[in-house]
Amino acid sequence: LQNSLALTPQMGFNNWNSTGCRPEFNEAMVKGTADLFVAQGLKDAGYTYVNIDDCWALPQRDAAGNLVPDPVRFPNGIKAVADYVHDKGLKFGIYSSAGTKTCDRIGFPGGLGHEQQDANLWASWGVDYLKYDSCNGNGIERYKVMGEALRATGRNILYGICEWGTTRPWAWAKDVGSSWRTTGDISDSWSVMLTIAHANQPLAPFAGPGSWNDPDMLEVGNGHMTDTEYRTHFSLWAEMAAPLLIGTDLRKATPETYAILKNTDVIAVDQDPLGRQGSVIAKSGGLVVMSKPLADGSRAITLTNETTTTAAITTSAEAAGIGGAPSYTLKDLWSKETTTSNGTISATVPAHGTVMYRVTPSLRTDMPAGTYQLGDLAW
Ligand code: DGJ
Repeated sequence: LQNSLALTPQMGFNNWNSTGCRPEFNEAMVKGTADLFVAQGLKDAGYTYVNIDDCWALPQRDAAGNLVPDPVRFPNGIKAVADYVHDKGLKFGIYSSAGTKTCDRIGFPGGLGHEQQDANLWASWGVDYLKYDSCNGNGIERYKVMGEALRATGRNILYGICEWGTTRPWAWAKDVGSSWRTTGDISDSWSVMLTIAHANQPLAPFAGPGSWNDPDMLEVGNGHMTDTEYRTHFSLWAEMAAPLLIGTDLRKATPETYAILKNTDVIAVDQDPLGRQGSVIAKSGGLVVMSKPLADGSRAITLTNETTTTAAITTSAEAAGIGGAPSYTLKDLWSKETTTSNGTISATVPAHGTVMYRVTPSLRTDMPAGTYQLGDLAW
């Protein structure tokens, strides 16, 4: 959507992947997450939105037709929580579904037919983000109705469309929301994460500032992948300019989980202002190379080993579209080592691992300084 809300992919947190509807999804969790965003430096790293998912409301609207926060989970209501989050300099997001009911089997009320009433209520609470799910709904039109309703509140509310790629949202949602889910739900599993990455990779041409393919929220830290696999997950999501929504309970997260989520070099790839999604430039036998053009003329390159044994993966600056420079600087965004190369880009990559480089061509020497920029690649 061409508003100012997601010129780079949104970053934040959502409770779903760690708690679902279990009782630990409550006010203490949301406030604790906001506290940790500040205390652990996640806010400084760019994470802004603290979002809640399904099961925040009571199963019935009140007599006036308004949604009612679950008084057990949120004894002080939602506005108090949003205020708390705002006091930390962060933003607050909520969830609903474009149908009669949300997805949980209890069946909380959905927004269908109540779009303006719900949008107004959320705006009055200070909501900054809506994730709008697809359960019990009837298609594209109601997504547009909610988009209009959000706009009519006059409040800036980032609109994340969540219909799992079923109606090819990359073809219609650009003028409706800031991002759209492209697949079914992720889970904390290497094979599911990889299947989702594969489905999202070919959609690169549809992404751009304000319009992001969303391969679902992060599972980093949830315990069923290795840290090597979580680094691959995080690298690929950044390479694909995906929304980065932390999906783990930060109150229980390990130092290694924080280190992954706070890798500012990888985050900078995700948040690069050029806003291009990386694409696959080579793929064979489970060895995958992606390249993402960056605003300064460099490229973010991922070398991913999807196999179960260590492998050498090699590509070149030329294959990444920046051939011809006399030399290149390669920064390994996980080890932080910098090397110089004549254009060969290669690494030995452990099973299920990803080596991620920022590859920068050397400055050209055949033009007077000041007459070219780093992005000037006509060697
Ligand atoms: C389906 C969505 O894809 C999930 O991310 C989550 O929001 C659940 N619904 C909640 O019921």
